[in-house]
Amino acid sequence: MFTNSGARTRALILVLLALTLLLVIAHFRKRDEPRLEPLQNVIVPVAPDHGPQPSIKPAPDSATDIKQWSSVWPRVPCVGPRGLNLAEENDDTLRESVIDGLQYPRPFVGSHETVGLTQTWMTAAARYGPYGWAEDQAANERMKAPWNETDWAALQNQCLAYNAHGFVNATLIHPFARRFRMREPGEEIKSPVIEPQAADYVPRTAIVLRAWKGYNYTAEDLVNLRATIAETALRFGGEYTVFILVDVKGTGRNIFSSDENYVRAVEDLVPPEFWGIAVLFDESLLRSWYPRIKTHGATYQIMQPLQLFAHFYPEFDFYWQLELDVRFTGHAGRYLAALSDFAREQSRKQAIERSTWYYMPEFHRSYSDLLTAVNASLEGKGGLGWAMRIQDFEPIGPKPPVDDPLADNFEWGVGEEADFIALTPCAYMPSLEHWVWRKWQQGLKAGTKTPGWMCQPAMGRASRTLLLAVHHAQAVQGLAMHSEATLSSFALWHGLKLVVPPQPIYQDPQWPRDKMNELFNGPGAVEAHRRQGMVGMARGDAIYRQTDYEYITTTSASFWYTSNFPDKIYDAWLGRGSQGGNSSREVPHVLWKSVDGKVYAPNMMLHPVKTNRNRPLDGSGDEHWPVIAGVAVALLGLSAAGFWWWKRRRRGRYSALRTEEVG
Ligand SMILES: *[C@@H]1O[C@H](CO)[C@@H](O)[C@H](O)[C@H]1NC(C)=O
Ligand SMILES: *[C@@H]1O[C@H](CO)[C@@H](O)[C@H](O)[C@H]1NC(C)=O
Ligand SMILES: *[C@@H]1O[C@H](CO)[C@@H](O)[C@H](O)[C@H]1NC(C)=O
Ligand SMILES: *[C@@H]1O[C@H](CO)[C@@H](O)[C@H](O)[C@H]1NC(C)=O
Ligand SMILES: *[C@@H]1O[C@H](CO)[C@@H](O)[C@H](O)[C@H]1NC(C)=O
Repeated sequence: MFTNSGARTRALILVLLALTLLLVIAHFRKRDEPRLEPLQNVIVPVAPDHGPQPSIKPAPDSATDIKQWSSVWPRVPCVGPRGLNLAEENDDTLRESVIDGLQYPRPFVGSHETVGLTQTWMTAAARYGPYGWAEDQAANERMKAPWNETDWAALQNQCLAYNAHGFVNATLIHPFARRFRMREPGEEIKSPVIEPQAADYVPRTAIVLRAWKGYNYTAEDLVNLRATIAETALRFGGEYTVFILVDVKGTGRNIFSSDENYVRAVEDLVPPEFWGIAVLFDESLLRSWYPRIKTHGATYQIMQPLQLFAHFYPEFDFYWQLELDVRFTGHAGRYLAALSDFAREQSRKQAIERSTWYYMPEFHRSYSDLLTAVNASLEGKGGLGWAMRIQDFEPIGPKPPVDDPLADNFEWGVGEEADFIALTPCAYMPSLEHWVWRKWQQGLKAGTKTPGWMCQPAMGRASRTLLLAVHHAQAVQGLAMHSEATLSSFALWHGLKLVVPPQPIYQDPQWPRDKMNELFNGPGAVEAHRRQGMVGMARGDAIYRQTDYEYITTTSASFWYTSNFPDKIYDAWLGRGSQGGNSSREVPHVLWKSVDGKVYAPNMMLHPVKTNRNRPLDGSGDEHWPVIAGVAVALLGLSAAGFWWWKRRRRGRYSALRTEEVG
């Protein structure tokens, strides 16, 4: 019996040791390829050494104009925070420049021209001057605005009222009004039906900015919020309305039990300028509507509050969800409009496959050449979007106009608004090897075999139809996917239109472009992407086996959820060192410093800018290796303890024997 248990212990210890060894080997496993070296000394934009130096000129009106609505209605100009008419004066206006004789920095993926973004430049003062940035400095020649008396809900409402004729439903913001409420017992939730787009009317879009209790609104945040509201809602004649959606964290404030509690929470958690546009929720609200979903935290279910927002704010057709750590170095409204304009012009056929590609003009040539190449690999067939069916529900998306996809010459869907616009390319979940949450799903009949679709980060623009479809699936059927896979997967399963506009993204350090094409899109020509189940899709290892390439992805991009490049750009542009310290002489390669020391930034969307040290909601992100390392350490500890115990037992036995001998 003694010996038996000893053998068992030894076997157990051996198994533990083997497991630990395996984990350690897995962790330190040699990469298939040696690590890439970043390129040295690639500095763009460069000014010529000799001859005429770059000349900075105001951007022409054609570059800064805001496109009129295509409907019969002209936009009525609105009043800004200075009490002035925005169309008629300069104090509220960005000072955008074009720089002759300077090559515009070439993004590593995406393209300004393809998405319809202007290649303009701005200094921080030219961009943020209208919103109170450095307004006390001598160089500021703009009239100061009375920020402590500004009410962004009132300004947006006034603008919307001027332009109400352009919309089907011009419901105003009602500051402090609690529209969210708990689900009533037995309350029925219907599956949405697609309504035709109202001809001659402009769709309305809510911009929902995500905040939470404990978010520190720095001066920089205030400037960013003012810029976002002025350049979308006010410049676009009420087409956009900006809200701050606040997670009050915990249920202690009882915001749904009385108006007083709600109002007090708004006043405590949001700066006064923005009280009127705050919309508050807490976990009790999410639990009440989605009792069958096992978690309501932001990491897994960041779309739940947005789903409810769509349910309770039906006057909007579309909802942009953006984080507060997004920055537009150019005009925010024109940037967002360019993304939706691009998406509207895309066909539905093969849009899903196209959404996986990191468009790199130097390898794919024009975007329509990329379309042609994807079409060739799919042999002209419909792709996933044409015939996607899962067992859990009937798709609500429109029926294809023709039965044979070959008969549609990429016309179906052109001119229709997209149901989901993602900000970086998507991935086919069954093929993802490293993404921690690739098997996270709930309630689906085919379980993890259901082909999910994932687009990071959890931001983007969703239609009300799509959000209500997810709302219904979660509330009635208990179906759920992870935050970053929710809107994209449901859009795919319902046959709704999903588009990823190839927005320009930069890298620092810069890496060989051909290697980046291979790492983000996979090896071989686009036409040759015919792997079973993934025909026509990009499948780069940087996405599908991301852990091995985090040394590139997590540090390099100007738009990537874990990258620190956006901070470097932002700090240098604002003329300060890292995290607000001293400014350095060198600026990142995408910026340009003129001879008089002004720093100009090209037109970019940056994410995440974390200069105010606000962390993401639930510490979301791919904490993959720390988990494995933790398990390995625990197993090692266990083995060590087991070994020590085993040795002690042996010593015990020997001494017993010796006692016998002696005895
Ligand atoms: C706003 O600030 C100005 C100048 O400091 C002051 O005169 C005014 O009373 C303030 N208004 C409010 C509502 O606090
Ligand atoms: C307009 O929106 C409001 C608020 O969401 C809603 O109560 C109302 O029924 C809508 N009106 C129409 C005509 O759709
Ligand atoms: C797509 O592929 C089909 C079949 O190869 C071909 O007939 C069609 O012309 C292609 N269309 C485009 C736009 O490339
Ligand atoms: C900034 O520079 C000053 C003077 O060179 C120095 O005293 C200070 O410590 C620096 N601050 C930071 C945050 O580096
Ligand atoms: C906000 O600022 C306070 C005081 O500076 C600090 O204690 C807190 O950690 C900050 N919160 C976040 C989320 O950064």
